[in-house]
This record gives sequence, structure tokens and C-alpha cells, in this order.
Amino acid sequence: MDKVKELINTLKNDHRLDKEDYVFLFENRNKETDEYLFRLADEVRKENFGTDVYVRGLIEFTNVCRNDCYYCGIRAGNTNCERYRLNEREILECCRDGYELGFRTFVLQGGEDGGYDEDDIAHIVMRIRDTFPDCAITLSIGEWERKSYQRFFDAGADRYLLRHETANKAHYEKLHPETMSFEHRMKCLQDLKEIGYQVGCGFMVGSPGQTNETLADDMVFIQDFKPHMVGIGPFIPHKDTPFANEEAGTMELTLFCLGLIRLILPYGLIPSTTALGTISPVGREMGIKSGANVVMPNLSPVKNRKKYELYDNKICTGEEAAECRGCLSNRMNSIGYQIVTSRGDSPLMTK
Ligand code: SAM
Ligand code: FES
Repeated sequence: MDKVKELINTLKNDHRLDKEDYVFLFENRNKETDEYLFRLADEVRKENFGTDVYVRGLIEFTNVCRNDCYYCGIRAGNTNCERYRLNEREILECCRDGYELGFRTFVLQGGEDGGYDEDDIAHIVMRIRDTFPDCAITLSIGEWERKSYQRFFDAGADRYLLRHETANKAHYEKLHPETMSFEHRMKCLQDLKEIGYQVGCGFMVGSPGQTNETLADDMVFIQDFKPHMVGIGPFIPHKDTPFANEEAGTMELTLFCLGLIRLILPYGLIPSTTALGTISPVGREMGIKSGANVVMPNLSPVKNRKKYELYDNKICTGEEAAECRGCLSNRMNSIGYQIVTSRGDSPLMTK
């Protein structure tokens, strides 16, 4: 059998490979071996999750950010970005709308907005926890000190998404200014896991400076760190960033990474992302068929949607939450999967 397929089989059985094997896979994959991987990945997801797809209601509650990540459309240095911030009442309204539509997980995502301090975030989490006791609360608000993460957890947050962006320090430094540190981001992920969160890491596929080596580093990091969730999507340039003229990542390579991650983490919660749906009209469906099992429709108020533009031509910025949910539900049904209404916790936390 060809060596690529052999390595894919080994990964399915052992859930890990050496770095050089991953490099070999990235260098030698082709259309046929991709299909082989997707078939195995889909089998593994069906063994563990059937054809269920979990939904998370995404609330992009602030686009104010102190950071200047070179890839990101809401970076501090983008003076063309019209800033907004939802207050506690508005956030709770988004949750209420979402609850009525059947969402049982709310993901609060935003820039690193100094306008909310630790008390504010803890208070918002507490209010959501009291109002919707049967729902999971996910935070995705960047880097904080450990004591703040602990405070949010004690207030009722269950999960935290913090993409590592790349597991290669030199590559990290090509994507971020000197004020940001690879070590600190990694420490945040460790802290979150030790505190007891269900933790998600992740990266962009095709980000400037990414190579087969750095992708192999990402895979090795994921197999060692064993996160509960992994969010990956293609890098897509934004016109008002230093990476405006860089190439976007491809759907094919993103799907390949999704397939590998499913074999590394059979119980992983892996979204088929909006960025994947942006580079291809069938991207999210293909993501699910390649091993993903989560979708994240937008619950943010429509008037703010376009302002949370991380990259150019982001989809789903004009529809109401109900339309987004309905659209995703139809898309999943069309490929033989179905959206389910449940918290969708990591099986590793409840076993
Ligand atoms: N501030 C939080 C953080 O840093 O984790 C959460 C918000 S941040 C906008 C969420 C994710 O968007 C980032 O982790 C990054 O991977 C992704 N992202 C940012 N710019 C992007 C781009 N141009 N293309 C694709 N994804 C992008
Ligand atoms: Fe802060 Fe992107 S630079 S969210």
C-alpha cells in the first residue's frame, strides 16, 4: 500500500505520528489519498457521534481590540474598522433569541477589549449562567492572566476557545507584532486546561509563512496537548491589514487538516467554520464530511455583523439568527447529517 495511506492507517490506530511523518503526509498527499483520509475520518466521527452535528450560537460582542495581529481585520491598527461593543443587556437578548431557536451553547467572542474588565466579564457570565442554567457558556476573548480565567470559570463559564495560531515560535512571530508572545499564548492554553475548562486551540490554514514543517508542528502540538475542541479554517486576507495581498488558504488543505485532526482526536469537537464556508459555497458541508461535527451560526445583532469583519467577504453577515440556523440545518440535512439541540459537551469530560 502506498506510504501515505499506511501513515493514515497508523494515525487512525495510534492517534499520533512523528513530526517527520506528518511532513511526509503534507508533501505527498494527492486527491486519492485525500479521499481515503476523508473516508476514514468520517467513519471515526460516525462511530463516536453518529450523524449528529452540534450547534453553537456565536455572539461577536465586541470588535474593539488592543492587539495588532497582522492577519486580523479588527486589529487595533485598522482605522477603517467601525468599532462597536454590546452591553450586558444586549448580550442577554442575543442569548434569549438563541435559546428560543434551540441553542444550548453560547460562544462569547470578541477582541481583547480593555473596555470590559475582569469584573464585567465575570458578571456577564454569571447573568447568563443564572438565566440559562441548562446552557454551556464558551468564552473566546483572548489572553488573560490565570486568576481571571479562574474567576470566569467560577462564575460559570464551561469552555474556552483560544487558537494557538501556530505551534512554531518563528512562525508565530511572523504573524504577530513583538508585543505578543508565543510563550504567553501557550501558557494561557495550559492554564485553561488545568483550571478545568473544555479547551479549544486551533490555527488558520495557509497563513503567511506556514510550511509543511509548521503544519506538522501544529499536528504534534494537538496530539500532545489533547484539546477538547480544535477550530481551524483557511486564512483569508483582509484588505486593511499588512497581509492584504497574501494568498488565501485552500479548501483542500483545510479539509486535509480536519481529517487528520479527527484521527488524532476521535472524540474531538471540531467546527466546520465560517471561513471555510467563505472560500467555497460548499465548504461547511465538505468540512462535516471530512470529520468536523460542529457548526457555529451567528447570533449577533444583524446591525453589527459586518463590523466584525476578520477577513474580506465574510458570509452570513446579512441574515437574522433564525435564518442562519435554518440555512445550516438544511445544509446539514442535504448531506445526510442533522443538527441536534443539546449542550454537546466533550465526551471526555462526561465519561
Ligand atoms: N481575540 C480572541 C483571540 O485572539 O482568540 C478571539 C477573536 S479572534 C478574531 C478569533 C480568530 O479569528 C483568531 O484566532 C484567528 O485564527 C481568526 N482570524 C483572524 N483573522 C483571520 C483571517 N484573516 N482569516 C481567517 N481567520 C482569521
Ligand atoms: Fe484582536 Fe484580531 S487582533 S481579535
